[in-house]
Amino acid sequence: MTKMIVRVLGFLVAAVMITAVGGFSYLYLRKPAMAQAPAVKVDITPARLARGQYLYNLADCDGCHSLRDFTRFDGPVVESGRGAGTVFPPEMGLPGVVAAHNITPDKETGIGNWTDGEKIRAIREGISRDGTALFPMMGYQRFRHMSDEDVFSLVAYLNTMAAIRNVVPRSRVAFPVSLLIKSAPQPAGHVPEPDRSNKVKYGEYLVTLAGCMECHTPARQGQPLQGMTLAGGQEFRFPGAVVVSANITPSLQTGIGRWSEQNFLDRFYEYKGYAEDGPPHVGAESFTVMPWLSFSRLPPEDLKAIYAFLRTRQAIYHVVDSHPVWQAQRDSVKPRG
Ligand code: HEC
Ligand code: HEC
Repeated sequence: MTKMIVRVLGFLVAAVMITAVGGFSYLYLRKPAMAQAPAVKVDITPARLARGQYLYNLADCDGCHSLRDFTRFDGPVVESGRGAGTVFPPEMGLPGVVAAHNITPDKETGIGNWTDGEKIRAIREGISRDGTALFPMMGYQRFRHMSDEDVFSLVAYLNTMAAIRNVVPRSRVAFPVSLLIKSAPQPAGHVPEPDRSNKVKYGEYLVTLAGCMECHTPARQGQPLQGMTLAGGQEFRFPGAVVVSANITPSLQTGIGRWSEQNFLDRFYEYKGYAEDGPPHVGAESFTVMPWLSFSRLPPEDLKAIYAFLRTRQAIYHVVDSHPVWQAQRDSVKPRG
């Protein structure tokens, strides 16, 4: 998740290169763009809870906010730490210390005392309860496109999660990124329901919320590489492990161009058993951050819509090795001569 976050800041970093001292004091004093938290109280209905749980899974909130067991394939959630927050390890190369907060309804250590409007604003607009800008690793720049009804459902679900007492320190984002992130929040306004009758459009909505672009587009110095959208090659470093995202453009040789819709579905449903019964213990050579466990729970219509959208993207020839270190280590232990 390292570069994905920094990537989001790319344009801001570029902006600062040409900013003089005056610019810095401007940034220092300025407040992020911010709207009043909406005055809504979300009604909890069975339909909303189901949709909310679905969105929580699609957007992989667990991926960052929950305790995970990385000795097992894909780091399944440890139930006693679901939503309880975590501090990211230094290996991820984040600027400063970044923590994903406790988002359970615990009143003291979680968001149990927040109004529903404050939760909605944090999720879609990147403003914490105290009015500060959230570090954009939190996916608010994509959650901004979440429809009003969907964010209500998500909040309904968050409100019914088990409250877990767990103190997570506030993030301490390093200078100058701490100033730059103030430009990231943006009011979301009213967001209409996605058009479900248009398969490709709905696929785009799902891809946006699921963060496929953020992980599957390579970046350099925080900037997504031009013409490389979805072409893979972004590295994710964890203690003792690394994985590189795959090329999921329709490239015939290097992407998923030869995959039929059924191949695509099969690839995700391969992990259904793991999601249901718990994945096996694996070594660092199988380390991945691709949310296979979450996405294997998506219904076939959704995966078909995602596939349909991906097929409309530009095919990019780009060879990626998803497990480079292990490849290198295997090569280096081969007998010489
Ligand atoms: C890629 C990692 C990532 C994902 C995925 C993610 N978050 Fe976050 N979230 C963060 C980080 C990091 C922060 C803290 C940012 C900071 O400290 O500035 C955060 C902050 C928050 C906050 C504000 C908490 C506070 O005390 O200010 C809320 C609420 C939240 N996330 C909810 C969610 C929900 C709901 C989802 C799923 C829809 C989600 N997040 C998905 C990383 C993530
Ligand atoms: C948190 C980062 C992350 C997100 C979000 C993510 N991916 Fe991935 N994905 C990866 C990584 C890393 C790999 C390579 C390792 C692996 O296969 O597990 C991968 C592999 C894949 C593969 C396998 C390709 C192959 O050649 O076998 C497919 C297909 C895929 N992702 C599709 C998607 C789609 C579609 C989405 C959005 C719905 C998505 N990914 C979201 C990180 C991510």
